[in-house]
Amino acid sequence: MSLIKTFSKKLIAWHGVDGRQGLPWQNNRDPYAVWVSEIMLQQTQVATVLERYPRFMKRFPTVKRLAAADIDEVLAEWAGLGYYSRARNLHACAKQVMEQFSGKFPSDPVLLEQLKGIGRSTAGAIAAFAFHERAPILDANVKRILARLFCIDGALQDKKVNDQLWSLASSLLPTKSEDMPIYTQALMDFGATWCTSRKPVCLTGERKCPFAKECQANLSDQVLLFPQKTIKAKSPEFDCDMLLLRHGNQVLLQKRPSKAIWGGLWCLPESAWVAKAKVSKVGATPKLEDLLALTLSNETAGPLLKLGKQVERGENIKHIFTHRRLWIQIWNVQTSKAYAFASGDLKWVPLAKLGQYGLPQPIKLLLQGLSLARGDDLKN
Ligand code: ADE
Repeated sequence: MSLIKTFSKKLIAWHGVDGRQGLPWQNNRDPYAVWVSEIMLQQTQVATVLERYPRFMKRFPTVKRLAAADIDEVLAEWAGLGYYSRARNLHACAKQVMEQFSGKFPSDPVLLEQLKGIGRSTAGAIAAFAFHERAPILDANVKRILARLFCIDGALQDKKVNDQLWSLASSLLPTKSEDMPIYTQALMDFGATWCTSRKPVCLTGERKCPFAKECQANLSDQVLLFPQKTIKAKSPEFDCDMLLLRHGNQVLLQKRPSKAIWGGLWCLPESAWVAKAKVSKVGATPKLEDLLALTLSNETAGPLLKLGKQVERGENIKHIFTHRRLWIQIWNVQTSKAYAFASGDLKWVPLAKLGQYGLPQPIKLLLQGLSLARGDDLKN
């Protein structure tokens, strides 16, 4: 019998022995719970999600509660998980579900895909897990599995290749809709643990792949050639200065605009990001006047100049994003007074209260260091 006909049964049998079992989001038909877990699992390791998912569900147990929450609260709960657009989209999507679907997630993957932050594959996963819909998924792991099994040529970004993979994914689905959750989970697990990008079990010889005799890439000794690799350009590097302004146990934080990188999170006032010089050298410590002008508006910088003391060089932090690398030079300044700002995006925050704010990971780590040095507790 052809692999198209036998694939789902064999994969489900594989899952029974070697798949991931007993994860807290499995065997759950609540679409809200499924949706939150799928979004969290998109760019975060299972081990981290195991720790953070129950906490998120406890804080926001229903779509209604999430929609009613303040975005700052959601971002604070998401802190450390990265890719914060996921948290902003979760919040926006919860509001959409309340307003457009009376608080009930639709079961149709086409409708799910119209919601904020839900792509076609995630829509398929939610529909399969929560509603047993016969909807395919096609994330990077599944693309790899299919490209190998059927020796699919061409770059994955190519529309024709992508369409071909989606139609293959549809043709492989189990016939019984009640098998959809286990099948979908099995596909994810097989890609994440056995048919991996660099060390698939067929090559390491650790385990016997259930598709070894049907996988066209394996049969032709070309497993690592599929899917076709695209050559990635090195991501560009940027430099920026950040102002760590302190008064006693308080630090000055600035809320970032929602559309920017780390949108909606609280950060240190920063200068514009500039392309990193080819040959980097340690520059001179800036004068307070110049540093304030680089990082704050004129109205804010003016009064602070009278209150600030000298500038001291702080840490130089490298932070890697998906598409860029950022070098952050921290500059420490103490002020004699916590100047009260008119602008709402600037706030003095006691170190002990930082846990209530969504902070970018490198800034959180930096401030945690300060806080520990003072013996404050950064937890909520
Ligand atoms: N990645 C995305 N969804 C997942 C799931 N349900 N289980 C494990 N990894 C995943």
